[in-house]
Amino acid sequence: MLELTGVESGYGETRVLHGLDLAVREGSVHALLGRNGVGKSTTLKTAVGHLKAVSGAVTFLGQDVTGLPPHVVARKGVAFVPETRDVFGALSVRENLELAGRLAGANPAWTLERVAEFFPNLANRMTNGGHELSGGEQQMLAIGRALMQDPKILVLDEPTEGLAPIIIQQIFAKLKELKASGLTLLLVEQNLNFALGLADDVSLMSRGRIVWRGDAAALKADEEAHVRWLGV
Ligand SMILES: Nc1ncnc2c1ncn2[C@@H]1O[C@H](COP(=O)(O)OP(=O)(O)OP(=O)(O)O)[C@@H](O)[C@H]1O
Ligand SMILES: [Mg+2]
Repeated sequence: MLELTGVESGYGETRVLHGLDLAVREGSVHALLGRNGVGKSTTLKTAVGHLKAVSGAVTFLGQDVTGLPPHVVARKGVAFVPETRDVFGALSVRENLELAGRLAGANPAWTLERVAEFFPNLANRMTNGGHELSGGEQQMLAIGRALMQDPKILVLDEPTEGLAPIIIQQIFAKLKELKASGLTLLLVEQNLNFALGLADDVSLMSRGRIVWRGDAAALKADEEAHVRWLGV
C-alpha cells in the first residue's frame, strides 16, 4: 500500500536515509523499530511528504507520491501523527478536529460525532483550548485529527511517548480497534511490547537502512535481533 524504494533523505547536506526499502501491506500494522537516532522519524517524514527524498521513490496505492507536498499526500489518504503531536493550543478541540476534516473527501467515514464517540475523553473537552489538554488528551486529539482526514493509512510516530501507563493502555486499545476495522497502520514505537502487541510486520532500522524484517512472532523469538538492533 505504502512503499519506499531506495529512499535517500535527510536534512540539508546531511543524509540520514541511505537507500531505505519499506513496504506496508494494506490492512496490516507495520512497526518500524530501532535505536535512538537511526532515522525512524526521518523515514516517516519522508513517507508523508514532510521531507523530500533526495533519491528513490515513495508510492502509495501504486501512485508515485515522491516529493508531493504533505497536504496533497494527506488528501490521498495518508494521515500523520507526528511525535510533537502539533495540537493547535489556541484553537478549541472542536476547531482542531474541524480543521483536519478539511483534508477529507466527500462523505467521510469519520465525522466529528464519530471521533467524539471513539474518544469519549475528547467529547467532554470539545470547547476547551488545545493548550488545556493533558498529554494523553493531546495524543487522542492528534489521532482524532488524523482520523478526521478519513485516512487509508495512519502513520504514527511514538504515540506513547511521555504518557502514563493507564493512558498508554487506552491508546493501545484504540489502535487495536482501528486495526480491527481494517485501517492500515505504520507505527514507530520505543515501547516494544506495545509495538509487538499490535504489529503484523516489523522492520528494524539501523543507520538509515532496514537491517531486519519479519513478522512480530519472528521478532519475539529472535533475541539476537533484540540485543543487536534494539539494545533490549
Ligand atoms: N531537523 C533536523 N535537522 C538536522 N538533523 C536532524 C533533524 N532531525 C533529525 N536529525 C538527525 O537525523 C538523524 C536521525 O534522526 P531521526 O529523528 O530520524 O531518528 P529516530 O530514529 O526517529 O530517533 P529517536 O528514537 O530519537 O526518535 C539523527 O542523527 C538526528 O540528529
Ligand atoms: Mg524519532
